[in-house]
Amino acid sequence: MGSAAQSESGLPIQPLYDGRALTDFDADAKLGAPGEFPYTRGVYPSMYTGRPWTMRQYAGFGTAKESNERYHELVGAGTGGLSVAFDLPTQMGYDSDESIARGEVGKVGVAIDSIEDMRTLFQGLPLDKVSTSMTINAPGSVLLLLYQLVAAEQGISGDQLTGTIQNDVLKEYIARGTYIFPPKQSLRLISDIFAYCHKEMPRWNTISISGYHMAEAGATPAQEIAFTLANAKEYVRAAIAAGLDVDDFAPRLSFFFVARTTLLEEIAKFRAARRIWARIMRDEFGAKNPKSQMLRFHTQTAGVQLTAQQPEVNLVRVALQGLGAVLGGTQSLHTNSYDEAIALPTQKAARLALRTQQVIAYETDVTKTVDPFAGSYVMESMTDDVEAAALDLIQAVEDRGGAVAAIEQGFQKSEIEKSAYRIALEIDNQERTVVGVNKYALDEEEPYEPLRVDPQIEIDQCDRLAALRKERDNDAVELALEALRDAARGTDNVLPPMREALRLRATVGEVSHALRDVWGVHVPHDTF
Ligand code: 3HC
Repeated sequence: MGSAAQSESGLPIQPLYDGRALTDFDADAKLGAPGEFPYTRGVYPSMYTGRPWTMRQYAGFGTAKESNERYHELVGAGTGGLSVAFDLPTQMGYDSDESIARGEVGKVGVAIDSIEDMRTLFQGLPLDKVSTSMTINAPGSVLLLLYQLVAAEQGISGDQLTGTIQNDVLKEYIARGTYIFPPKQSLRLISDIFAYCHKEMPRWNTISISGYHMAEAGATPAQEIAFTLANAKEYVRAAIAAGLDVDDFAPRLSFFFVARTTLLEEIAKFRAARRIWARIMRDEFGAKNPKSQMLRFHTQTAGVQLTAQQPEVNLVRVALQGLGAVLGGTQSLHTNSYDEAIALPTQKAARLALRTQQVIAYETDVTKTVDPFAGSYVMESMTDDVEAAALDLIQAVEDRGGAVAAIEQGFQKSEIEKSAYRIALEIDNQERTVVGVNKYALDEEEPYEPLRVDPQIEIDQCDRLAALRKERDNDAVELALEALRDAARGTDNVLPPMREALRLRATVGEVSHALRDVWGVHVPHDTF
């Protein structure tokens, strides 16, 4: 028998697991039934036998009009939920006509400056039927309110709306970078959003606490779930400290993880994450509502594992990664397009990515029974191992004073960087195989024509903004922005005055600047 291999988290994988792996295994305590505490086997009793996961392809580029066309295509092709990608200026709370936005308008997502763009973005889409995820963090409240305002124009009330804003600023400080305000003010804003949605949009998922970007930056599976759940604990603490009842907001917390090609450990990771979260919520925070204890999550396949070389091979990787997410019980899934390592996905590549999910859902048999790996020697052993490693890391964050304090000490970032360095070394010295890159490479790659965003978009977007600033009642806008600043200075929820400003056609940038005026901006400490 060979010796133990190492998992991505650095845990041993034995060449053989047998009944001895499960001699002390208490199935009732560790697994429970599907849909029951601790939800190891999934959050719903029937899982995909009752309803498939939501096929939710992340998309958006250029103008609101172009993105709206892509959403109509995706809905026509059978996607179940929308997922909006915003350009960097929008994600950072700047308007398209600010100098800092130059060259970035419409590049990595759609440019949204005001309610007018938002109206165009969702033209003709049934917002009472489709659930919409928006990858927006620091200005999450702004885009959420624009969505609510546009829906109201269509006669749809807040309590009918379903969807998610990412709104997870802590991981922005660790890995993704689109933060605006300092941590304390960010947590205040997030607690305001929880309270606002509880009253106004009770079916909305108020946050998508994300390990994905940390994983893309190099986090191992154990680090990914540990740092994500440690961030989640910080949000829960902040909201409780702001006076909210845990069972009023926790049912609408959601999560977001990666699926790598290392299928077994990924399935174990998802199962372990559910079990850890259920126990944290019940035992540490006293959550009584079962929905508060359920870790519901979206998954995206691992972009970082895709290669620019022989890009069609990515179709195979994505199929395996998507399968892992499904076997791990995901609620919603984005499968990457095979050309994503090169540029924005072409239409054909985006369609193939969706077809990959449809093959998993409708041609395989993995959806016909719930949590098919339960009781497997290797799967239960790996679930225990990932859980133990993650619990140790969550404790390490707590020992540093919680997620924010640990971020300020650079802890998560430096742990992730060490893992990224290890992976890079392994690829360089060929201990880790990347097909088509460090093994089985072609002498000459086939040519590929990437999709490019038209630079004219930026000019058009700026023209529209100039027209908007001329047409609207600027005195009313300024008064509304002052009311927003007042709320930010005090303790009133900032969302109602923000909504009024947006309704009067204040822009994403103006609203964000009003908050910057009062709260300042986060300046990262360099820990290295
Ligand atoms: N039995 C009974 N009911 C079931 C069921 C079953 N088997 N399966 C589903 N349902 C019900 C649910 O209870 C729910 O109803 P409710 O809202 O009344 O409770 C409804 O059907 C919808 O099901 P889910 O909530 O499971 O699925 P959704 O798709 O609506 O939500 C989510 C999933 C994970 C909770 C949500 O937060 C979500 O959709 N997240 C997506 C996040 C996303 O797309 N992010 C993109 C990030 S891209 C990015 O970051 C960019 C770059 O930087 C990488």
